[in-house]
Amino acid sequence: MLNQNCRTPYIMHRLLFLVLAQLLTTGTCDTNPDPEHKEKHEGNMFVPWTYEDQDWSKDYELCNGNSQSPINIDTDETILNKKLPSITLEGYNLSETEQLDLSNDGHTVKLSLPDSMSISHGFTQKYLATQLHFHWGSGATSGSEHTVDGFQYAAEMHIVHFAAKYGHLNKAALKADGIAVLGVLFQIGAEDNKNYDHIFDKLQDIAEEGANVHIPGFDINMLLPNQLYRFFRYNGSFTTPPCFQSVTWTVFNETVQISQAQLDKLETSLKTGHGMLDSNFRHAQPLNRRTVFASFSSLTSSRRIVPKENSVKLDEDDKSVDGNHFTLGDTLAVIFGTLFGCTVLAFVIYLLKQRKRQRSNTERGQKVIYKPAATMEA
Ligand SMILES: *[C@@H]1O[C@H](CO)[C@@H](O)[C@H](O)[C@H]1NC(C)=O
Ligand SMILES: *[C@@H]1O[C@H](CO)[C@@H](O)[C@H](O)[C@H]1NC(C)=O
Ligand SMILES: [Zn+2]
Repeated sequence: MLNQNCRTPYIMHRLLFLVLAQLLTTGTCDTNPDPEHKEKHEGNMFVPWTYEDQDWSKDYELCNGNSQSPINIDTDETILNKKLPSITLEGYNLSETEQLDLSNDGHTVKLSLPDSMSISHGFTQKYLATQLHFHWGSGATSGSEHTVDGFQYAAEMHIVHFAAKYGHLNKAALKADGIAVLGVLFQIGAEDNKNYDHIFDKLQDIAEEGANVHIPGFDINMLLPNQLYRFFRYNGSFTTPPCFQSVTWTVFNETVQISQAQLDKLETSLKTGHGMLDSNFRHAQPLNRRTVFASFSSLTSSRRIVPKENSVKLDEDDKSVDGNHFTLGDTLAVIFGTLFGCTVLAFVIYLLKQRKRQRSNTERGQKVIYKPAATMEA
């Protein structure tokens, strides 16, 4: 947003911002602004906000809405929806000749993205990319915004897209179906994730709030998990003021691993006007009456092969399966499920037979090992 030479003192920077914001709203200037981090109130009032005091609704009423983000995703409450198409990305492999703007806007590190990048399939309409940014913690504190079954991940990346039909991010941000954000959760792994060095290696150059550098394009696909067909989907909001409730969220189930050293870099490289830029995550918001869909059945995860309560929730959806997305995992799950069922049935029959034989044995007065079972029956 604020481009070159922004090492001006804090107040100057804020004033500049105000002027810019005015220009933008009167439409005289088009610099790809970012509503997720737009510090503007209805009536063009400028109100700063911080992560320390998250009572944002005093100044930004919408932040008190009933479809806010992030949320805790309770996997037991998610509804399986196999009709949700896999996310397909187009134009994500950027050429090195493309210059991307990497900036510290005082709330996050943001990488601008060209609108030649898009989500080509996954929704009933096309969404164009505009920027990606991160949320993180500090020291021993985790920093993801979405939590899964109450677990907070190390950090989270958001890739922000706007509906092509609205033509511009600012317009789309005000429409119910205007924005699609892809959310990626991070976990700590043993190895450096080299794909992130394009960004993390430059953090030291944008330590000051308002600073920016240009970095050459690279393959943004490499920042994403492999399984783009396993995700949670719900209707929510931007996680920063003014908290517009126009975001269709996709939070991937597969996490991405970065090293502890890389996380440390993210947590300690950037500053704001008044201190370290860290712990920039919003706390989970009430779900209210919203539904969170899962594009995948937990049956396909190695952890839960045994059918659980899936008979209730999953069955309704299974009726409407359109075969659109029947993965190898699904097939295996069905095969193993059937095998498991057959084994259980065979075992039960075997037990019954054993018991019958047992009984006839005891009737004939033979002493056998099965006595304790008889008392249990009583
Ligand atoms: C989001 O809201 C729209 C409009 O109310 C609705 O059609 C859609 O099913 C909702 N999507 C989810 C994932 O809840
Ligand atoms: C992925 O899905 C499994 C199965 O539902 C769940 O146990 C796990 O917590 C999920 N993890 C994430 C990061 O979504
Ligand atoms: Zn975000």
